[in-house]
Amino acid sequence: MPVLRSAFIALSHNRTLRNFGERTRVGVRLSSRFVAGMEIEDALRVAEALNKQGMTVSLDSLGESVASETEAHTAAEVYHRLLDAIAERKLKANISVKLTQMGLGLSPDLAESIAVDLTRHAQSTGSFVRIDMEDSSLAQVTLDIVRRINARSELRGAVGIVIQAYLYRSQADIEQLVADGIRVRLCKGAYNEPAEVAFPHKADVDDNYVRLSCLLLSSPLYHGLATHDESMIEAAKSFAKQHGIEPSHFEFQMLFGVRRDLQRKLVREGYNVRVYIPFGRDWYPYFMRRLAERPANVLFLAKNFFRS
Ligand code: FDA
Repeated sequence: MPVLRSAFIALSHNRTLRNFGERTRVGVRLSSRFVAGMEIEDALRVAEALNKQGMTVSLDSLGESVASETEAHTAAEVYHRLLDAIAERKLKANISVKLTQMGLGLSPDLAESIAVDLTRHAQSTGSFVRIDMEDSSLAQVTLDIVRRINARSELRGAVGIVIQAYLYRSQADIEQLVADGIRVRLCKGAYNEPAEVAFPHKADVDDNYVRLSCLLLSSPLYHGLATHDESMIEAAKSFAKQHGIEPSHFEFQMLFGVRRDLQRKLVREGYNVRVYIPFGRDWYPYFMRRLAERPANVLFLAKNFFRS
């Protein structure tokens, strides 16, 4: 794994930098490159604008690893408010949720019961809950929780999961998820993982991403291909064309603020595009993972910061 990537991921866990970043005006200004704003209203405004441009969205209230049950319920409350706002404003939007923010580190039962309530709410308003995937130590428990929620007949189809192409286990997981009727978002993976569980070389991750995309496209379910990598996108488009798979059968997903040109181009070409919109005051770890993906972003941020 490239040194800079590892360094930024390591920095994403640094408490001192985090406290400094999240509490200063400079930090908040920098974060605006990848974060829609600090408040729910900021995220909803961006969602509305993107819907008008023909894109759907997934809203992420930033935050990970809460320290108490009260914090987990407070975090869930933000998502309930989002689901109400999505319904009231008729937004084409769903929510992306991290189970550690719902208390997974304290008790898997707590996280599961909160995720069940959110899925019930989403289901009743015609929305959807996507459970994000965190580091590999949480993969099995996350899969188990999503499977159990989807197995409830009244919630079937209202919850989905994320699978990371860098993990060796992902093909087997996708086969099982598809058999269970669970919708998948496929991404490359954003955490530092050891070679025992994940491909250490980017070329192997990319090959696996293409292989897994083809598996998902061939399944009867509607899945999301989350990537900004044009070669992954081209591979998916050409596989779909060769196999007569309509563009309406799947969607591409990208992050707010990343490759806006490509997002718009795909919409013009008739593909479904969903933009992941993160917002909130706990932006630091998310922001550092975005720098890890493309360390050149640091230069970009610095140039724009001093220019404005
Ligand atoms: P790759 O990193 O190879 O980048 C390809 C090209 O895309 C780069 O050359 C650059 O042009 C552009 N690019 C990529 N990242 C950029 C950035 N930060 N800034 C500017 N340009 C950039 N991960 C995870 O572990 N769990 C999860 O739940 C999710 N969820 C998720 C949702 C959505 C909608 C997306 C798009 C991504 C995620 N991810 C994620 C993150 C994912 O695992 C991965 O880290 C990033 O998407 C970067 O990988 P790419 O596929 O874009 O390719």
